[in-house]
Amino acid sequence: IDLATFAAGLPKAELHLHIEGSLEPEQMFAFARRNAVAIPYPDVEAVRAAYAFNNLQDFLDIYYAGADVLRTEADFRELAAAYFARCAADHVVHTEIFFDPQTHTARGIPIGTVIEGLLAGMADAQAEHGISSSLILCFLRHLDEADAFATLEAARPWLDRIAGVGLDSSEQGHPPSKFERVFAAAAEFGLKRVAHAGEEGPPAYVTEALDLLKVDRLDHGNRSLEDPLLVARLARSGMTLTVCPLSNLKLCVVPDIDAHPIDRMLRLGLRATINSDDPAYFGGYVNDNYSAVAASGRLTRDDFVTLARNSFLGSFLPDADVARHL
Ligand code: ADE
Ligand code: ZN
Repeated sequence: IDLATFAAGLPKAELHLHIEGSLEPEQMFAFARRNAVAIPYPDVEAVRAAYAFNNLQDFLDIYYAGADVLRTEADFRELAAAYFARCAADHVVHTEIFFDPQTHTARGIPIGTVIEGLLAGMADAQAEHGISSSLILCFLRHLDEADAFATLEAARPWLDRIAGVGLDSSEQGHPPSKFERVFAAAAEFGLKRVAHAGEEGPPAYVTEALDLLKVDRLDHGNRSLEDPLLVARLARSGMTLTVCPLSNLKLCVVPDIDAHPIDRMLRLGLRATINSDDPAYFGGYVNDNYSAVAASGRLTRDDFVTLARNSFLGSFLPDADVARHL
């Protein structure tokens, strides 16, 4: 069998997936119709045609607009169900799902509607597909610290069902330091911590995520490669990087897939993983990402085994469950 087929069949975990980014255009139209929400596109083809981005912000503007069709607990449950069906097809047996409560609460959707809908979808997936999952509550970094604290407070009744907090949205100009106190509060609640860093932002933002946010995992981290001392630190500490090749391509973090540094990351001893980020917007789910890098011809079978192993090693599963998957 060829390399992509081999990689596709490996059991794996996904550690970087924004559930709002799994909203496919067809589902967007279905939710818009039943919720009587207007969408600024005539049809599915027009939506797909709009998915041409020059940078992160281009994407975020369209992604936040798309999320407007999500209104009810049933919407979030079905959104999750569609994503889990893709996980099942891709041999994703565990997934740690990002969600952006502020995108919804700013529109008057209660945080409980979002969380209860997602939790119901996660229970369905465990029962139907045997897929385990957890939730990571992300703060939107373009909003202020007070808004993040209010979000953490609003989530208090559900914190026993949330694995950790994350940091996403517009990176440039919104350094991790802005959220140092919020992340310290999250740590007090026993939550894990992750942050997007070094996607578009400089290596210094990665260092801030480590030193100030005390992250357990780093999302993207591409620009760490510009700083050899930072690379050495990440490698030595066994820090997991949740790398997203097709996202990097679509958001022009790399000029083409053959220039993607996933092979360099592995050769440098970094604990890299492969993930889909926002699959409905970036042209593919986990196995599409594995295939894209397989096709670029710089990785071996052993590398793909390492990537899949890293996805479990970097997960927030209990050690016994990690061991069971290795
Ligand atoms: N929100 C959803 N996807 C994102 C990404 N790749 N970077 C920052 N914020 C995001
Ligand atoms: Zn992301």
